[in-house]
Amino acid sequence: METIVNLCKARGFVFQSSEIYGGIGSSYDYGPLGVELKRNVKEAWWRDMVATRDDIVGLDSAIILNPKVWEASGHLEHFTDPLVDCKQCRQRFRADDIEGDRCPVCGGELTEPRQFNTMFKTFIGPVEDDASVAYLRPETCQGIFINFVNILHASRKKLPFGVAQIGKSFRNEITPGNFIFRTREFEQMEMEYFVYPGTDEEWFDYWVNERFNWYVKYGIKKENLRLRQHPKEQLSHYSKATTDIEYNYPFGWAELEGIANRTDFDLTAHSKASGKDLTYFDEAKGEHITPYVIEPAAGADRATLVFLLDAYEVETFEKGGKNDKRTVLRFHKDIAPVKAAVMPLLRNRPDLVETAKKLAQDLQKAFPTMYDDTGSIGRLYRRQDEIGTLWCVTVDVQTVEEDNQVTIRDRDTMQQIRIPIEGVKKYLIEQLGKNC
Ligand code: GAP
Repeated sequence: METIVNLCKARGFVFQSSEIYGGIGSSYDYGPLGVELKRNVKEAWWRDMVATRDDIVGLDSAIILNPKVWEASGHLEHFTDPLVDCKQCRQRFRADDIEGDRCPVCGGELTEPRQFNTMFKTFIGPVEDDASVAYLRPETCQGIFINFVNILHASRKKLPFGVAQIGKSFRNEITPGNFIFRTREFEQMEMEYFVYPGTDEEWFDYWVNERFNWYVKYGIKKENLRLRQHPKEQLSHYSKATTDIEYNYPFGWAELEGIANRTDFDLTAHSKASGKDLTYFDEAKGEHITPYVIEPAAGADRATLVFLLDAYEVETFEKGGKNDKRTVLRFHKDIAPVKAAVMPLLRNRPDLVETAKKLAQDLQKAFPTMYDDTGSIGRLYRRQDEIGTLWCVTVDVQTVEEDNQVTIRDRDTMQQIRIPIEGVKKYLIEQLGKNC
């Protein structure tokens, strides 16, 4: 993990937030490459969950909702973690993270566990009193439930159908940590799939399968993923069944995404609390029903971390009869933040530089491309491997003086081909379109 954290900082994927002031409890900022990487993760999710499906539509709801939402959803009562304090060193822990009854740091005596609500509280307007209390959402899905009827009327969808949302959520975690795995501010990618009661178990299996295969499709190694069913006593207050997709992180197996059968809990609760009808009219049966909900809930930051961890490799290979080494991020082509880098073989030759810059600018119109002339070619290759760039395109003396051809080096195989400069864009677009 430390290696990935260092690489993320050095190459501009992720920085500690407010670093010049000593940071702030597990907050992170995405740098120039990180923002592209995370955007690609979210775009892949949106493409597969919304854009290419007839049965799912999108939503972007507010972060601050009427506090009654959280009362009805059960969050005010149940969204708590058991907290214990060490009487000696004063450190705080989640009681369920601790083995035994002593402080894991100093061995001191611990207080009795007390329930701590992990929602972030704020105030609406200038007066800070009980009447102005509001909360930053701890999950994106409640915005979907409270808009159920609006979406139903506007989209005229028939069951089964889903509503998807990507956005920030906030939790005042007692023990954030492991880099961007658990933070207090994070992005979720959630989809609520509304189904006929009685078909919920079938749809639950369908979504567990779909979501597991989604990670494999984008290159996560199958052996690093597994499913874990929650035992009854671990289920959230709204859930009839939950299965986690777990990843084998450097600190062990832990949740990457959860798929829950939320039954009709949320729609029923909001209907009761608001006094509004949140049912669906089943034309075939001529009756109103409250749909059941299957929810695949993923974290955009956690998924980004998994794509980074899984792509990381230190490869040893033979070069000129000697062993050589390189660090390479083997991102899937859709996930890689930079698709191509263009470089002149000699940076002191204006004609090579100009040709390379022109080519880079042309490629940028089609996909993220970097121009780089800040080192020797071997060094530039290593740097691009380290950020997972799919192809390095080199302009050399032969290009400008003889054949107008460039060299394209493949990140994974390190094989090079030489093709006419005017065919580069078409060739790379074709490669990007292929199902790797
Ligand atoms: N609506 C259901 C829900 O929010 P969850 O299992 O609490 O379920 C879903 O969260 C996903 O959101 C998790 O699998 C994880 O990827 C991400 N997530 C949750 N808490 C997080 C945190 N503190 N930091 C980063 N990601 C988090």
